[in-house]
Amino acid sequence: MRLQGKVALVTGSGQGIGRAIAVRLAGEGARVVVEDRSDNTAAEETLARIRQAGSDGCVIGGDIGDARVDARVIAQAVEAMGRLDVLVNNAGIEKRADFLDVTEADFDAVLGVNLRGTFFTTQAFARHVQDRGGGGAVVNISSVHEELPFPHFASYVASKGAMKMLMRNMSIELAPLGIRVNNIAPGAVKTPINAALLSNGKALDALLGNIPLRRLGRPEDVADAALFLASDEAAYVTGTTLFVDGGLLWNYAEQ
Ligand code: BGC
Repeated sequence: MRLQGKVALVTGSGQGIGRAIAVRLAGEGARVVVEDRSDNTAAEETLARIRQAGSDGCVIGGDIGDARVDARVIAQAVEAMGRLDVLVNNAGIEKRADFLDVTEADFDAVLGVNLRGTFFTTQAFARHVQDRGGGGAVVNISSVHEELPFPHFASYVASKGAMKMLMRNMSIELAPLGIRVNNIAPGAVKTPINAALLSNGKALDALLGNIPLRRLGRPEDVADAALFLASDEAAYVTGTTLFVDGGLLWNYAEQ
């Protein structure tokens, strides 16, 4: 059991990658706080799977991205579980629009969840870690688009590029507290966030042709990487991004 005695909080774990991470960490002994926009049936289903995996936890609702909400979520989690050791900033959204058409409301929504959420949830987590004497791990679910342009998703790439630099900065500032901070950059993973793409056969074929390993990622592929970065096996890993993308990012060939 690689996370025995640890408590983890996974934002946005009512579905997709977040759910897979929550269940994977639970399978290694962690008690897990399932965080989602609200205490909904999807979040309760994740908690049920955590219990099936032999662990326990609780559900906390909150729309990540408002600093007061982020601090309240951390405080409630600490109250419910006694402590937090691992924070997975997984909650994320994207909105498709040509750059010329992006609205301020959509820009704010995307930057709000992806960037402000990661920023202020980690700040509240780090203050808790400081209060209890240090030690912890933060794993941010970023994207290949922290490096790679993504036409029609300008606000999304802005948020993910910023998450890369935020992670690097936090890894230095939080090292004295014994907190490691790393990103995971998934490629194309089969989850609700890209449901539209996945139901478009032509677009899906084009995408698969661009992935050297010739398949979509599974949420479990990302969960395995999150487990590693959250565990003591990654004790000397901080300030870096682990790409879990089947080779997508650096694929280039002239036929
Ligand atoms: C996005 C997906 C996209 C994938 C690969 C992810 O970060 O959320 O919509 O399919 O990157 O481009």
